[in-house]
Formats: sequence, structure tokens, C-alpha cells
Amino acid sequence: MSKANIDAVDTGALRGRRVLVRVDYNVPIEDGRVTDDTRIRATLPTLTFLVEHGARVVLVSHLGRPKGQRNDDMSIAPAAARLEELVDVPVRFVPDIVGADAKAAVESLASGSILVLENVRFLPGEEKNDRELSEALASFADIYVNDAFGSAHRAHASTCGVAEVMKEAGRPALAGMLMKKELRFLGDALDNPERPFVAILGGAKISGKIDVIENLLPRVDHLLIGGAMANTFFRALGLETGTSLVEADRVEMAHMLLERAGEKIVLPVDCVVAGEAKAGARTWLLARDEVPPEGSILDIGPKSIATFRDFVERSRTVLWNGPMGLFEIDDFAEGTLGVARAVAEATAKGATTIVGGGDTAAAVESAGLADRMSHVSTGGGASLEFLEGRTLPGVAILDDEGGSQ
Ligand code: 3PG
Repeated sequence: MSKANIDAVDTGALRGRRVLVRVDYNVPIEDGRVTDDTRIRATLPTLTFLVEHGARVVLVSHLGRPKGQRNDDMSIAPAAARLEELVDVPVRFVPDIVGADAKAAVESLASGSILVLENVRFLPGEEKNDRELSEALASFADIYVNDAFGSAHRAHASTCGVAEVMKEAGRPALAGMLMKKELRFLGDALDNPERPFVAILGGAKISGKIDVIENLLPRVDHLLIGGAMANTFFRALGLETGTSLVEADRVEMAHMLLERAGEKIVLPVDCVVAGEAKAGARTWLLARDEVPPEGSILDIGPKSIATFRDFVERSRTVLWNGPMGLFEIDDFAEGTLGVARAVAEATAKGATTIVGGGDTAAAVESAGLADRMSHVSTGGGASLEFLEGRTLPGVAILDDEGGSQ
């Protein structure tokens, strides 16, 4: 069932109302400055909409894993400062969450302005989905909006408990515009993809993605597998994988998947091999059956890039999660970049292209190709759980579309 969205509310009713927005400002910070503001920019449609209609906007987010204790290194203040640079309205930060200072700041908040509360994970009640904290957060809100897709797999006070309290009190608990966009792109890919539909999976381990593979296999036309994950499949084919990362306890599973999926699973045919996983190491381009016992597979090779490009080119829906090699080191980045370019080209030809969050989003961003994808998810763990077919608690708890608010 679709969720009720903030953009469907009667805008006249927003003026002067307190809207508590759960955002995911869990962003990288160095020397007190945000180094990647993608997640902050992604919330601007919701925030702009609310301030333009005169709402009093209160933001709550976690940052890092401070384990229920105040930790100045994980203050949300730098994210609030970055937000202020991105919007035209006053943004105030209060170094408090639900105490007297936060209450006073909410009370004095003017229409059309934004208040950012301190990192909610400084309170132990957040991760425990504590009722008292949920009630305290709900006391700041006439309307609750969850725009934190990246945190929607967590059943915490600011993502779940607060929405429950709002609903019990007959007050709205709605999805924000970013949340709506994420659910639409990822949901359509799973349930209603335009075909051919190809998924590309990469990253280090099969174990972390086995449920994604299981959920995707019956839905896709082809599943392209790269990254170190492919090594475990190579081993299942009886190939030499040298000193490459292989999950020995998953080889049998990879074997069964290959038998079951037949030609649906497409593996790399060649690879970049090195003696060591470090910049400047000597590398060899080898067919996948030529890997020597002392070699380590660190990227897919040019023939594999070309094969993957062919599949992507012919597709109408492309879903990509996980790098093709050790892309953080330039010598092993070409596979990931090649796939990123192919996916960007597919977008230009009218395909719907969706990039999973985390490492893949970072790779596409650093290649300067993020705005050439139909959608780059802001969720890492959340998008994986969604692709596994699991219900995200932060989504499930929100009001249903057309339901009572
Ligand atoms: C993320 O970065 O994936 C989200 O912000 C969730 O963070 P968490 O894994 O610490 O809950």
C-alpha cells in the first residue's frame, strides 16, 4: 500500500504548524566540515516545500554510532551549517534534543524557518525505540514527516516510535518527498520494471547480498556479477582464484545459484590481476581461467566491461549495487568506471537507471556521473534491505495513502 506524502497535504494548513522531519544527515565530516552533502541536498525539496508554505520545521537525525552518549566529534552542527548554506531561510542549531533548550527553541521557532536538533543517537532511548523519547519528539510536532530513507530500516524512536505516538494521537505521520522518490524508483524496479531488466551486483561478499540475489533472480532478465563476489562464483566453476578474496563457505551456494539461474547470471570473462592490492602494483589482464596461484583478482577486465555494456545498452531498466573492483585504488577502478559510463549512456537513451547507495553511489559521484543516472539512492543498508524484499519499519509505520490522518 502506498504511503501518504507531505506533498499531498492541504498547503494552506501548513502555516505556523510545527513539522518534525526525520532526515538522514549521517554524512561524512572532516575537520568540522561536511565532505559529501548529497544526503543534505536530497532533503531540499521537502524542506523548501515546507518553509515556502510557512511551516515551522524541526529536523532530527542521527550521525555515526555514538552509542547513546554525547560525543562532540559526532555533533550534527556541521550538517546544520551546510544546510544553512543551501537554503535561503534561517537555520538554527540547538545542541540539545528533547531537553529544556530544545523545547524553548521549538517554541520560539518562527514560521518559514528551520531548527536542527542535536544528534538523536546521543540519547540511549533512540536505538531502543524508547516510548518516553518518542513522546518527547512527538510533542514537538503537529505533523511528522519521515524523509530519512537511509534510516528507514532502523526501528528507532525517531523513525518508528514517534510515528506511532503521532498516529495514536490522530496526528499525521507522512513520507517526505525524498522517501517517496526512493520508494517509487526502487519499488517500480522490483514490482513493475520496464523490460529488459538487468541488475548488476558487485562488492566484496556474496554473504551480504545473498537475499538480494534470491529476491532479484526471479525478477530480472539478467544478473551481471562483478567485484570480489564474482571470485566465489569462479571457484564454484572450478577455476583457480589465486590469493583473491573468496568466501570458501559460500562456494556451494554459488554453485547452486549458477545451476538454478543458468544463463541468467553473467560473470566476468577476464580480470585485472596483481600480486598486491596496492597503488602502483604491477598488474596483468588475464582471462578468468588464467589466474596464477600467486595472483589476486582486483577488477573486471576490458572484455567483461564490454560484455556488461552490451547487456546494459539493451536494457530498459538497470539496477546497480556494488563496485566491480577495488575502485578506491585508481589501478583497479576501470571496471567500476566503465560500468558507470555504460549505465549513464543507458539513461541518455531513455532507460530507467537506479544506483544503490553506499559505495556505488560514492563511485558514481566521484566519476562525476551521479546526475546522469535516473536515481542514485541515498540509502546504503536501507536500499539493500529493500532489494531483499524486506519491509522497512520506518516506512511501514507511516500513514497509508487515502487513510485517515
Ligand atoms: C546509513 O548510513 O546507512 C544510515 O544512516 C544508517 O546508519 P546506521 O547503519 O548507523 O544505522
